[in-house]
Amino acid sequence: MRITSGQANPRFVAEVSGIDLRETQDRELLGSLRAAMDEYAVLVFRNQPFTNDEQLAFAQRFDGVLHTKTSVAVLGKNRFGNEALTDVSNVGAGGDILAADDRRRMSTVSNRLWHTDASFEEPAGRYSMLSARVVPPVRADTEFADMRAAYDALDDAMKATIDGLQVHHSIAYSRHVMGFDFSPEEREKLKGADHPLVLANVRTGRRSLYLASHAESVLDMPVPEGRLLLRDLIEHATQPRFVHAHVWQPDDFVIWDNLATMHRARPFDDRKYRREMCRTTTLDLPFAV
Ligand code: OGA
Ligand code: MN
Repeated sequence: MRITSGQANPRFVAEVSGIDLRETQDRELLGSLRAAMDEYAVLVFRNQPFTNDEQLAFAQRFDGVLHTKTSVAVLGKNRFGNEALTDVSNVGAGGDILAADDRRRMSTVSNRLWHTDASFEEPAGRYSMLSARVVPPVRADTEFADMRAAYDALDDAMKATIDGLQVHHSIAYSRHVMGFDFSPEEREKLKGADHPLVLANVRTGRRSLYLASHAESVLDMPVPEGRLLLRDLIEHATQPRFVHAHVWQPDDFVIWDNLATMHRARPFDDRKYRREMCRTTTLDLPFAV
């Protein structure tokens, strides 16, 4: 196994080669991959032709408990039959490209906003793993922002302002802002959660901003004031110097730490080209091994 740090953002994104993740059983190896996640926050693996079952098995081996209360699962449209496997594709059960007004499309198009996965859950999402099954012939990148570097670059006054603040995260909120509303029954399953605005990695102590499109309000602060603070911080954290664009190839497998990054999908002509991606996300619980 070889870990090669990227040129543009050297301590943020690395490519790991010489490894077939479907075969990884060795605890020490999995431990060194988790250590690399703490160092970089985004790891890229090429040529990983996962099946759905192999992806589920790897995600569990790598980090235990999987996130199942996803918005896609709540919409009841999972063609894979397993709520831990999220269909991030623009095709439906019959294999056709989704209609413009399909509810799953209307909801997941909001992946184009800067966000972190499952910040609206308690425990929150930790690692997301996205497997590229079908890649369109045009660019349809995923961008990542380094929330540790963004935190480090804040001035001392801002660090003092945000120290100890808690944020309420809700996917019903982030979708509503975009004009998509869940039904009352769906919303019942997506209640939201509170998390600190500044997280410290429990293994390394490294701090990061914890922001997302799902961030609805800052607790104990007037709502407009809190939202302005959140917008300012997201604007700060997504400056080009903190951002890396991943250009997808078929069978790429990318793992990111949701507690140290934000990400967003970039637009492409999704009414013309197929893009089939499959995601597993783990929860922020103590490591089992
Ligand atoms: C996701 C996500 C981005 C993309 O799967 O959580 O945000 O580019 N995907 O598909
Ligand atoms: Mn996402």
